[in-house]
Amino acid sequence: MNTSINFAGIKMKNPVTVASGTFGYGREYSKFFDLSKLGGIITKGTSLKPKSGNKPPRVCETPSGMLNSIGLQNPGVEYFAENDLPFLKKFDTAIIVNACGSTIDDYIDVCKILDTLDIDGVELNLSCPNVKEGCMAFGSSYQGVKEVTSRVRKVLNKPLIVKLTPNVSNIAEIAKGAEDGGADAVSLINTLLGMKIDIEKRRPVLANNTGGISGPAIRPLAVRMVYEVSQAVSIPILGMGGIINGEDAIEFMLAGASAISIGAGNFANPYTSINTIKEIEEYMKKHEIENISDIVGQVKMN
Ligand SMILES: Cc1cc2nc3c(=O)[nH]c(=O)nc-3n(C[C@H](O)[C@H](O)[C@H](O)COP(=O)(O)O)c2cc1C
Repeated sequence: MNTSINFAGIKMKNPVTVASGTFGYGREYSKFFDLSKLGGIITKGTSLKPKSGNKPPRVCETPSGMLNSIGLQNPGVEYFAENDLPFLKKFDTAIIVNACGSTIDDYIDVCKILDTLDIDGVELNLSCPNVKEGCMAFGSSYQGVKEVTSRVRKVLNKPLIVKLTPNVSNIAEIAKGAEDGGADAVSLINTLLGMKIDIEKRRPVLANNTGGISGPAIRPLAVRMVYEVSQAVSIPILGMGGIINGEDAIEFMLAGASAISIGAGNFANPYTSINTIKEIEEYMKKHEIENISDIVGQVKMN
C-alpha cells in the first residue's frame, strides 16, 4: 500500500497536510504528536513585515464551523526564517509557507526571501477575506490572479501553489488565471465571508464585523468547487474546507484533489490530521487500493 505522493514536485509521505493559519508554525501541536507523520505543514500566512492582525474579538462559533477575522497576524518572514523554520526542520515533513501581502511588490519581496530558504514550496494567499488590501482583492478576478502569479513566478523557483477564494461566482475561471500565470498547483478553498450578530447588543460579534467561515459547514461547497476546478485546469489541486476525517479526505480526492488540508478540524481535535491518515489507510485496505494517487478525480458523475 503506497500513500506517498508527489504534489507539484513536493514529495509527501501521505496526502494529508494541515491548513494555513490553523497550525501556527507547528510548536503547539508538536506536544500532541510527532509532526513527521504529516504529509506536510502549511504555515500561518507570512508577510514581509510583522502584522498584528485585526482587533478582537476575532473568532466565534457558528453551527458546524467557526468564523474568524484574524487579519493575517504573523511575525514576518525574517522572524520566521530565524526562529520557526529551524524548529520545523527538525521534522521529516514537507514545509510549505503561506505567503501574503498588501501589494504585488509585497508578494514579490516575501517570495524572493522564501526562495532562499530551505522550504519545499510556497502557497500564495490570494484569498484572505479579512484584510482590506491585497489577498482577496487580487484573488477575485482571472486577470488579478494571473498577474500576481506570473510576477511571483519570475522570482520563485520553488513549487508555487496559489490559494483561491470561494467568494467568487466562477472559481474555475480564477483557477485558470493561476495556471496561466505559471502556478504549479492551486489550493482551495479559503473561508467564505460570513457574519454573526449579537441580538442583545444589535452588533456583529466580530470586531471586524465580518469574518471567514470554515469547518464542516462549508464542505459540500468546497467539494463542488474542487470538482469544477479539476475540470478546468491540468495542474494538481490541494483540497480543503471542512475535512475532519478520512471519509471527507477521500471525498475531496475523488472530486479531484491530489492532496488535502485540514484546518478548523485541528481546533476541535488536535489529532484530526493523524486520525485522517489512519482512516485513509483503512479505506485503501478495504478497497484494495495500492496507490492513493489512483483515486484522484475518480468520481463517476451521474
Ligand atoms: C483561524 C484561521 C486562520 C486562518 N489563516 C489563514 C492564513 O493565514 N492563510 C490562508 O491562506 N488561509 C487561512 N485560513 C484558511 C484555512 O487555511 C482554510 O483554507 C479554511 O479554513 C478552510 O478549511 P477548514 O474548513 O478545514 O478550516 C485560516 C482559517 C482559520 C480558521
